[in-house]
Amino acid sequence: MTASQIRQAFLDFFVSKGHIIVPSAPIVIKNDPTLMFTNAGMNQFKDIFLGEAPAKAPRVADTQRCLRVSGKHNDLEEVGIDTYHHTMFEMLGNWSFGDYFKKEAIAWSWELLTEVYKLPKDRLYVTYFEGDDKEGLEKDTETYELWRALVAEDHILRGNKKDNFWEMGETGPCGPCSEIHYDSRPDNERAEVSGATLVNADHDQVIEIWNNVFMQFNRLKGGALQPLPNKHVDTGMGFERLVRVLQGKTSNYDSDVFQPMIQFIAEKSGKKYNGSATKDNNTNFESFGEWDEAVSMRVIADHIRAISFAIADGQLPSNNKAGYVIRRILRRAVRYAYQYLNFNEPFLNQLVPLLAEQFKGVFNELYDQKDFVQKVVLEEEKSFLKTLADGLLRIRTLKINHYFAEYEREFGKQDSRTQTEKESYIAEKMVDNTSFEVSGKSAFELYDTYGFPIDLTQLIAKEMHWTVDMEGFEVALQEQKTRSRAASVIDTGDWVVLKDVDSVEFTGYEETETIAHVVKYRKVTAKGKEQFQIVLDKTPFYAESGGQVGDKGELVFPDGEIVKVTDTKKENGLIVHYVDTLPDDIDDALTAIVDPSLRNQTNANHSATHLLHAAMKQVLGSHVNQKGSLVNADYLRFDFSHFAKVTDEELGQIEAIVNQKIRQNIPLKEERSVLYAEAISSGVTALFGEKYGEYVRVITFDDEFSKELCGGTHVNATGQIGYFKIIAESAVAAGVRRIEAITGVGAEVYITNQNQLVNQLKDLLKNPKDLTKSVESLLDENSKLKKEIEKSILEKSSGLKNELAQKAEAIGDINFIAQKVALPNAEAVKNLAYQLKDIVPNLFLVLAADFDGKPSLTVMIAENLVKEKGLHAGNIVKELAKEVKGGGGGQPFFATAGGSDISGLDAALAKAKSFVG
Ligand code: ALA
Repeated sequence: MTASQIRQAFLDFFVSKGHIIVPSAPIVIKNDPTLMFTNAGMNQFKDIFLGEAPAKAPRVADTQRCLRVSGKHNDLEEVGIDTYHHTMFEMLGNWSFGDYFKKEAIAWSWELLTEVYKLPKDRLYVTYFEGDDKEGLEKDTETYELWRALVAEDHILRGNKKDNFWEMGETGPCGPCSEIHYDSRPDNERAEVSGATLVNADHDQVIEIWNNVFMQFNRLKGGALQPLPNKHVDTGMGFERLVRVLQGKTSNYDSDVFQPMIQFIAEKSGKKYNGSATKDNNTNFESFGEWDEAVSMRVIADHIRAISFAIADGQLPSNNKAGYVIRRILRRAVRYAYQYLNFNEPFLNQLVPLLAEQFKGVFNELYDQKDFVQKVVLEEEKSFLKTLADGLLRIRTLKINHYFAEYEREFGKQDSRTQTEKESYIAEKMVDNTSFEVSGKSAFELYDTYGFPIDLTQLIAKEMHWTVDMEGFEVALQEQKTRSRAASVIDTGDWVVLKDVDSVEFTGYEETETIAHVVKYRKVTAKGKEQFQIVLDKTPFYAESGGQVGDKGELVFPDGEIVKVTDTKKENGLIVHYVDTLPDDIDDALTAIVDPSLRNQTNANHSATHLLHAAMKQVLGSHVNQKGSLVNADYLRFDFSHFAKVTDEELGQIEAIVNQKIRQNIPLKEERSVLYAEAISSGVTALFGEKYGEYVRVITFDDEFSKELCGGTHVNATGQIGYFKIIAESAVAAGVRRIEAITGVGAEVYITNQNQLVNQLKDLLKNPKDLTKSVESLLDENSKLKKEIEKSILEKSSGLKNELAQKAEAIGDINFIAQKVALPNAEAVKNLAYQLKDIVPNLFLVLAADFDGKPSLTVMIAENLVKEKGLHAGNIVKELAKEVKGGGGGQPFFATAGGSDISGLDAALAKAKSFVG
């Protein structure tokens, strides 16, 4: 079976068991502060498990793209070194939301593996949870009994909390689980050592392929387990591992999921991929072999998947949070490509089209944006390659210095050996694997100056059999952080539940005032300040999403108490209101009131964003896709994929189209529950990286013009936008540009101010007929005047030249001049000094000048005097400058100084003589 047949067979099997197939959620997570990336198939159903949202169907299945590179589930270190961990992988899953439980889940997983995929039963091992006294969790005998009916007893193993109690993260849904492992060793090895002893023992041929989790608890912040409202099934099968096993391979990279990529990398690098090369412990940074090359190819084939899908789902590489995780992965891959495969030019980006083709029809997000993704990867590669070589050299230097110091310790500093002998001693040591610790300071320098993520430095250190002083690094990093900004630590308490509800209702599309009750609240400490978060059963408050900011407003209680809502955010299925204080009577019915004027202006900016997006596609082309957006009451900001600066002419056209649509006063058409598939086929604009359900909301302004999937709030008709004005266009990242614009009152104020400015200018220029012409002639005149002044200064200094030459006093064989001159700038004085040098032989010249109250001193000495008498203008001017409380310097024949005390000029001139006397 090919990989795609295997995937399809999984989905077909669960359809035959009454499941509906849902699409993968984006790999980048937006509404869950506990998680950056999707790390399991169940993430998109977290709110259903927690009872915060109803399930759309009791049984679903899918293939979900996952990323395990941060937080509780992090496999990054293993990737490429072994043959069965990945950064991005597909997780095949089937779910029951309060429907079937252990019995069916277990029976179906066995049926699929042994009857559909026909895996030999004697190679399969299953596990169950042994219980945990400390947590008060019982042994899962039910699971044991269910397996006992299907599997030989010696293939059923007990597992502890670490392996058999699955948790999504530090908090969140969790429960006992049952894993299925596969033993792919040859028969003779299996006869010698039982596979049962190798399960969960990091053996690369006895690997876990499927996990069935029986969701029953929510792990709270303090660590306690709270039973979930219902019991659910959450399963996850590692697609790449399954394919490998079914294709009879011993490495995931040998299956058709990875081979096309590996072969491409091998061909381009001119090296062979030897998947069975083994680690040679004697190799290091200086001398490496086939194993290092194979690891590099695996790393690249793996990492490009994580990088590409994260970018396709909207996460650009950057310097913080999720963006930095992606940048780190990318840099790790670039380093392997550079160091072990000799790719000195950007290479990773060339894999993007290949990958896009491979996932066409599975995850089209990448195919649809492949040019954009490739461009982003290319730019990232370019920028890192610029410093990578220097950074690696720096690491090498650390090592050389280390052995150099060792050499001196051993033989002393005054050793008589030749330089070549010393160097060959060090060269020999370089391939040695002696231990050494990279200091925190050096690691920080690599991070700060060369862009080496700390895990990359650690990885390189490990390859050299070295360690890194991580504490020292953290100290240096923290110092930098405190220097640049105060740490913002947010501590979130557990919810205090007042009322059980299945889901919260958003009323904000119809009204801005709703009567509601608090259902739960919690305390949050951010930057040392205490705040609270409140969830209502119904609310008109729009929670920040899709770029639109959260509503602000008030919660008004019957006793007159008013609690101000400072922001509203989404958390999974919840709408969370941010407040500074809790009301006294939290159980009372309250009226939730959104600030209407902020909301109206926000509506106008949001609708204008849709018009802008449509107008841009018309003017710039259909490749323009939204890459980020911010809509608040003051303005709108729109980031989009486009490879060139948007010209003024294009901006003008875009603005004109939007304003035309505003004047047409097109009524809003809002459809709340359109089938996603139908909406897409009718040509709506959907955004990459958004998670859409089966039913979607479609916002239309003119069927022929703008149709977008959107959850935001809008004007009732475009006329309410008033007027649209673009105020800035700029670049934000490779292939991404930004437009900022204003509407309505904001635009009116802006235009009024501009108009005022023009009027003020006209006034100043005495109301000329043509303002532009008038300013132009003013500039012309100004530059003419400037030239004339320069000319007259030159003339003046030439006049001074003769006057001064006559004042020369012969002291010995030196012609000494020390005078104050009335020249306006350093250029003029310098000019004068050079002219004097040409006409007065054996010159020793000191000129003092007053530049708008600032003293200036210039010393010029004939070159023969410099040579014969050892005079040095630079040193002399420094001495003289003391008289004017200043300093300066320069060459032996010419030097200048400035100062702060103009009254010392005469003393400085008087002092000059002492140097020739
Ligand atoms: N959620 C389970 C896992 O990721 C199935 O292993």
